[in-house]
Amino acid sequence: MEKHLIEKLIETAMEQLKFSYTPYSGFKVGAALLAKDGTIYTGCNIENAAYTPTNCAERTAFFKAVSEGVREFEAICVVGGKDGILTEYAVPCGVCRQVMMEFCDPERFQVILATDREHYDVYTLKELLPLGFGPANLK
Ligand code: THU
Repeated sequence: MEKHLIEKLIETAMEQLKFSYTPYSGFKVGAALLAKDGTIYTGCNIENAAYTPTNCAERTAFFKAVSEGVREFEAICVVGGKDGILTEYAVPCGVCRQVMMEFCDPERFQVILATDREHYDVYTLKELLPLGFGPANLK
C-alpha cells in the first residue's frame, strides 16, 4: 500500500480518538477501515457500565461498514493508548481478529499499527491470527 494512503488511514484513526467513550478504562482507541471501493469507515471504542457490552474500535468500524452492505476490505489502521496518548501500538484483541477473519483474506488484509504518522508497522491478518478459523473452514 502506498505511503500516502497509509498516512491518511493513520490520521483518520487518530481523529476518532476524540469520540472514544471510555469512562471505565480511559484507554482510547481509534480505527480507520479501508474498503476495497476506497471508502474509509471509522470506529472508536464504546464502553458500558455493564462492561461486557463494550465494543472495540475495530469492530465498530467493521459493523458500520457491514451494516451498510460493504463486505470487502483492504486494510485497517488502529491507534490507541491510555488517556489517548499514543506511546505503544494498540493491538487488536482476539475477538476483533476473529471478526476480521470473517470478512477478510488473512494473507492479504493489512493491519496497520501506528503511534503517529511516521511511526507504524504493517502486518497481515495471518500474522496476527495464524491458523485462524474462518468461513473457508465451513465449506
Ligand atoms: N480496545 C479496543 O477498542 N481495541 C483494541 O484493539 C483493544 C482494546 C478497547 C476496549 C476497551 O474499551 C479498552 O480498549 C480497554 O480494553
